[in-house]
Amino acid sequence: MTHVVHSAEELDALLTPSRVEGKVIALVPTMGALHEGHLELVRRARLDADVVVVSIFVNPLQFSAGEDFDRYPRSLENDVAKLNGSADIVFAPTPEVMYPEENTSKLSAGEVGDLFEGASRPGHFDGVLTAVSRLCELVQPQIAVFGQKDAQQVFVISRMVATSFPTLALVIVPTVREEDGLALSSRNVYLSDSEREDARVMPHALLAASHAARHSSASDIVRAGKKAFEQYPLVRLEYLELVDPSTFNPVENDYTGEATLIVAAYVGTTRLIDTENLEIIHA
Ligand code: PAJ
Repeated sequence: MTHVVHSAEELDALLTPSRVEGKVIALVPTMGALHEGHLELVRRARLDADVVVVSIFVNPLQFSAGEDFDRYPRSLENDVAKLNGSADIVFAPTPEVMYPEENTSKLSAGEVGDLFEGASRPGHFDGVLTAVSRLCELVQPQIAVFGQKDAQQVFVISRMVATSFPTLALVIVPTVREEDGLALSSRNVYLSDSEREDARVMPHALLAASHAARHSSASDIVRAGKKAFEQYPLVRLEYLELVDPSTFNPVENDYTGEATLIVAAYVGTTRLIDTENLEIIHA
């Protein structure tokens, strides 16, 4: 049975016996509107943990002005039904529980927080880190599970966790996709039928870049990925870059080794992101 709690006190009442018995607690942070991608994180959490806590909180701090905070899909009842059996606790805190007046410290993602996603969404990663850090304080998990799809989020969270929660183990789960390759996202519900067709450019671009990676340098890989967008004139590419996984900064053209391809584009008014890990062999 899945318990649904909204306050820190209710959460503690449920978790204290497990903490005392030394059970392994896993946290899966989400903003709800759960899909198979989220559920895969929950299944992965279950492999390593005795107690799985899924948090559901549409975090106002990570939405910029003019973004979709107000219309972001909220469906707690449906979400709880989807989690029944796989999560032990659904923690759906109120804004007051997440951000009490006496605890207003906001974290900073530093310079990387201003690149790519952060360049289009000022303050986004500061908001993500503030929420994730607060959730880790409240839940005190030994394991936290995140999706690779949000590669820059994984990067900034890994750095924050290394300094603020050094004993917390992060588990990163590969992206769950639709049959045609589109990454599952809570925002896909915004797409009209024709936009959904156009959204296929995202996996197409990743595939084109992955093929190019077998024989091309960084700039040619990026060029191959961007070329895929030429067949989709209604899609507005925001960025497509290869970054060094250790710094999240763009790689030089003579770079070889593991690289992360990241892409963001507007399909209509819906902003989609995706990512793929590549190995660059030729400089
Ligand atoms: P949300 O977008 O709800 O995503 C919650 C988690 O699910 C994130 O770790 C995300 O990377 C993962 N996820 C989303 N789509 C996925 C897919 N197709 N396959 C695998 N995993 C997927 O990311 C957030 O919420 C927020 O920023 C949060 C971390 C909860 C902080 O507020």
